[in-house]
Amino acid sequence: MLITLEGLDGSGKTTVWEALHDSHPEATFTREPTESWYGEAVNRAIDDDGADPLATLFLFTADHADHLSRTIRPALENDELVISDRYSDSRYAYQAAALSGSDLTRPMEYIRGIHSAFTREPDKTIYIDVDPETAAARSGSTNQFEDAAFLAQVESNYERLIDAEPERFVRVDGTQSPEAVIDTVEDVVDRLRGSQS
Ligand code: TMP
Repeated sequence: MLITLEGLDGSGKTTVWEALHDSHPEATFTREPTESWYGEAVNRAIDDDGADPLATLFLFTADHADHLSRTIRPALENDELVISDRYSDSRYAYQAAALSGSDLTRPMEYIRGIHSAFTREPDKTIYIDVDPETAAARSGSTNQFEDAAFLAQVESNYERLIDAEPERFVRVDGTQSPEAVIDTVEDVVDRLRGSQS
């Protein structure tokens, strides 16, 4: 089973993902951007305000392809529980926002189309919900993707994804205390595990 964690920068999802290591030590924990050289290229693009948004999309997508073949598919074939901090929805939400002023008429559909040929959809996606102002304040707006106005566009893209596939998403209120968010997500993962066996 593949569970992904999604949310705006500063939503607290990485803290949750770290806490899940203790509550679900049997799981395979992974993340995007990955730690491969593809992920390093992605991190260079994230830190470069002048990076071309289409080039950045393809770097993220290359990292995803490598992540799938090297980590995700082998773990799933081994019947493992895989928990990924960010995954394809981050591209659909963030790069669709980054490409909103480009020549692409429907950036989200374009990005989904590129992925649909090869990706593996998550079984469940836990969306840690925080408003863009809280997200920007918490993340400190240190890179091009962390500004409140940009995050407002990203948030509305996530909402479109949730509306399109409400059965895949579980929404968790990220404005609760970190302990409460962690407890809620641990319960969700336990329930999903239970419903599988
Ligand atoms: P992180 O905050 O989860 O480490 O992610 C790094 C940044 O990269 C964050 O600002 C979100 C952004 N991002 C995208 O824009 N698209 C993607 O596909 C992924 C995985 C991350």
